[in-house]
Amino acid sequence: MKPTMRALVWALASLQSLAVALTIAEINGNRFISPYAGQTVTNVTGLLIAKGPSGIWIRSTTPDRDPATSEAIYVYSSSVGAKLSVGDIISMDGKVSEYRSSESYIYLTEITSPKNVQVLSSNNTVKPLIIGKDTFSPPTVQYSSLDRGDIYSVPNAVANISEVNPVLQPSKYGLDFWESLSGELVTVRKPKVIKTPNKYGDTWVYGDWVVSGKNSHGGLTMTNKEAIIIGSPLDGTKNPTTSKMGDQLEDIIGVVQQAYGFYSILPLTAVKVKVNASVAASPTSLRSRGQCNAITVGSYNVQNLAPTSAHLPKVAAHLVNYLHTPDLIFIQEVQDDSGPTDDGVVSANATLTALTNAIYELSKVKYSFASVDPAPGNLDGGQPGGNIRQAYLYRPDVISLYKPNQGGANDATQVVPATKSKGSTVTGPSLSFNPGRIEPASDAWKGSRKPLAAAWTAKKAKKPFYTVNVHWSSKGGGTSLHGDIRPPINGALNVRITQANVTGTFISKILALDPSANVIAAGDFNEFAFVQPMKRFSSVSKMVDLDEVAGIPANERYTYAYDMNAQALDHMYVSPAIAKTRSVKFEHVHVNAWAAYDDVVSDHDPSVALLNLCGN
Ligand SMILES: *[C@@H]1O[C@H](CO)[C@@H](O)[C@H](O)[C@H]1NC(C)=O
Ligand SMILES: *[C@@H]1O[C@H](CO)[C@@H](O)[C@H](O)[C@H]1NC(C)=O
Ligand SMILES: *[C@@H]1O[C@H](CO)[C@@H](O)[C@H](O)[C@H]1NC(C)=O
Ligand SMILES: *[C@@H]1O[C@H](CO)[C@@H](O)[C@H](O)[C@H]1NC(C)=O
Ligand SMILES: *[C@@H]1O[C@H](CO)[C@@H](O)[C@H](O)[C@H]1NC(C)=O
Ligand SMILES: *[C@@H]1O[C@H](CO)[C@@H](O)[C@H](O)[C@H]1NC(C)=O
Repeated sequence: MKPTMRALVWALASLQSLAVALTIAEINGNRFISPYAGQTVTNVTGLLIAKGPSGIWIRSTTPDRDPATSEAIYVYSSSVGAKLSVGDIISMDGKVSEYRSSESYIYLTEITSPKNVQVLSSNNTVKPLIIGKDTFSPPTVQYSSLDRGDIYSVPNAVANISEVNPVLQPSKYGLDFWESLSGELVTVRKPKVIKTPNKYGDTWVYGDWVVSGKNSHGGLTMTNKEAIIIGSPLDGTKNPTTSKMGDQLEDIIGVVQQAYGFYSILPLTAVKVKVNASVAASPTSLRSRGQCNAITVGSYNVQNLAPTSAHLPKVAAHLVNYLHTPDLIFIQEVQDDSGPTDDGVVSANATLTALTNAIYELSKVKYSFASVDPAPGNLDGGQPGGNIRQAYLYRPDVISLYKPNQGGANDATQVVPATKSKGSTVTGPSLSFNPGRIEPASDAWKGSRKPLAAAWTAKKAKKPFYTVNVHWSSKGGGTSLHGDIRPPINGALNVRITQANVTGTFISKILALDPSANVIAAGDFNEFAFVQPMKRFSSVSKMVDLDEVAGIPANERYTYAYDMNAQALDHMYVSPAIAKTRSVKFEHVHVNAWAAYDDVVSDHDPSVALLNLCGN
């Protein structure tokens, strides 16, 4: 149909004179866009099933038998409900409209400008449809026929639902399922919260239907198609903002509505927590032996950490109480000494000193730190003025920099072949700047964080080991998984693919000199392990995903909660030499992804590994 559908919508919009009597199913049609969009309709008859602040929802009194055509519709008008009650059967004239507030959203089919509203009878029974019992269960495999079998497939943005306007297959595709219930009053039985609500109290849940990716805390890990967001209650009450992943709610009754880019259920009244999930996170079970055969390595995106950040002592407490002061910690999102103040300061000495002091206060463990300040001018992205960068905290009693040579912002560290140095028991390739940044002048890092490389020796090791601490570009600019654009846009995908290549190429140079070198790349890759950037990184570098090596169950691989998915943006990749040692262990420590608002310290969970870095 190409551009014709949209043209058709507008062509119909001009046929104002045409006025027809239609059932609600006929108005909705069996596709996303109404075949009558823009037309005036008369004598639309339905049972008033719910009232909201800006309109009412009515359900057909003459339903058809086609599950693809919704029997209910929203009537947008702040005055229409004033003299009407739930249970009234009414008829009205109006105009069929397709509404969306952003061009990346799916349209909502609604009736606007209602006129000649007649009450035909009152006090009729209103029964919600129980999702999964009176309807199909939400499909678990695909969102849309237009995703070509993979929601992250590339190229993306090749089709728009509003233009292709496919026939709904509600038993097969997630978006089709909810669209086929647009405007309906439904019940979600035994709803479970899968993420801390947003600040408005909008809460992602699933009900007592089959779901995919269920993790041990009750959230859903990549990439479920079955969850629904509970939006603002129709009676003006507010959903709690204190709920969290795994909380059990009382059954929810509400109307299905496309809102703010998602299929939503607007509940009749605020959702209520029935059983609170525990937030007791388990500290890591991994313990360092203080020498090369059992080194603990942590990684934590500490979310815009400045010297005066209120969350700094809590980050320190996580590192002490939940990560057990790993020998080496990859930190991301460290701000400069003046935090977000945009004053030309780039040093993070005060920030890192404050963090290591706070750790010392709690544990008496003394950390040293290593990082490279970015060049002034907000060149690395993130909060303006914050000059975020990666840094290492390390326990100098266990590991030390191998041939240290502090790099500057514009110094590109190079891999240097091993030279025999007298009196040293440790031999291996070194880095020209240690710590140093990888290709800081490359276009790959425009407005983004340069990877921080370092070479180290662990107590009793025969060879150095190498680390690359990354914070690749975020998915900003992407579009919603429930959006109009299919497959959805994975923001900055191509930038991350380039970053994967540059990071991977650097590591490949270490492994070219010593194929059995111990290399660890960790941090916030802002990407999932099964999507192109990580695949490219792995193929260029030959590094392997520690989640795979350590056999972490797929549903437990998450460090972040976003919209309907618990997901892994943070990873640790290791070289083949590390992967093949028997003692590899890895844990994601869920101190934040589950937590209620007040308990969230950072938007990411930390992870910790136990590795043999002796280099035998
Ligand atoms: C309006 O629709 C109702 C129910 O479908 C029907 O009974 C009635 O005759 C219709 N009225 C007009 C004026 O068409
Ligand atoms: C509807 O029911 C209520 C009580 O449930 C009653 O007061 C009212 O008169 C009834 N209205 C009509 C139109 O039957
Ligand atoms: C989809 O819609 C967007 C506007 O949201 C437009 O920019 C884009 O060209 C459309 N894509 C296709 C494939 O038609
Ligand atoms: C659940 O936790 C919240 C926040 O701590 C509390 O206000 C609420 O009373 C608890 N609800 C139940 C049912 O335990
Ligand atoms: C870093 O900060 C510490 C504590 O404030 C101070 O003693 C030290 O001299 C500073 N180092 C640099 C390089 O500025
Ligand atoms: C990958 O990165 C390396 C190092 O920057 C560069 O030399 C090479 O051309 C890049 N390859 C591709 C396909 O972009």
